[in-house]
Amino acid sequence: MNSPLTILGIPGSLRKDSFNHAALRAAQKLVPEGATLEIFELNGIPPYNQDEEGQPPERVVQLKSKVRAADALLFATPEYNYSFPGVLKNAIDWGSRPYGDSAWGGKPGAIMGASRGMFGTSRAQYHLRQVLVTLDIYTMNKPEVMIASADDRFDEQGNLTDESTRQHIRKFVEALVDWTRRLQTR
Ligand code: FNR
Repeated sequence: MNSPLTILGIPGSLRKDSFNHAALRAAQKLVPEGATLEIFELNGIPPYNQDEEGQPPERVVQLKSKVRAADALLFATPEYNYSFPGVLKNAIDWGSRPYGDSAWGGKPGAIMGASRGMFGTSRAQYHLRQVLVTLDIYTMNKPEVMIASADDRFDEQGNLTDESTRQHIRKFVEALVDWTRRLQTR
C-alpha cells in the first residue's frame, strides 16, 4: 500500500482571476486517489533582500515549511514577456536562501501553464525549467501542459470547461504522482 502523497501547487500569478490558479484548482480535482494537491499563494512575499535572509518574513518561512513538507511540487506559471513572472522568481530566490538552507533541493517537480496566447507559456516554462536545475528539483519531462487560448477554456468563474484540457491535466497529475513514487523508491 502506497503512503499518501502531498503535492504543493504554486501559482506564478497574484491575479484574482488567474488562469494559472484556476488550472491548479482544476488539477486539485483530478489528482488520483492517494494524493492531494494543496495550493500555496505567493501573495504577501516581499521583494527578496539578502540583508533579511537571517530573519526572513513570515510568509517566506511558511513557503519554505510547505515546500519541505511536500512530496512534490507543481508550478503553474503564466508567461510574462517570454519568461516566467518576477513574483515566482522572487519566491524561488527566497526559498533557496540562505546558502545551504534551500527548501527546494531533491524534490520531484512539474511545470504547467496557461496563457491567453497561442503558445501556452512554452517559453516561460523552458526558462523556469532551467532555473529548477540549479535548485536541484527533479522536473518531470513529459507530459507537458501548455494551455493556450486560456480564455476559451475557462468560464468567468475560473472553472475549466474544456474536456480535452481536463483529460490532459488528469494524465499529467497521474504522471507526476508516478514520477514522485519512482523517485521515492530510489
Ligand atoms: C503577458 N501575457 C503574455 N502572454 C504570452 O503568451 N506571452 C507573453 O510573453 C506575455 N507577456 C505578458 C507580460 C505581462 C507583463 C503581462 C501582464 C501579461 C499575457 C498573459 O499570458 C495573461 O495575462 C495571462 O492571463 C496571465 O496569467 P494569469 O494571471 O491569468 O494566471
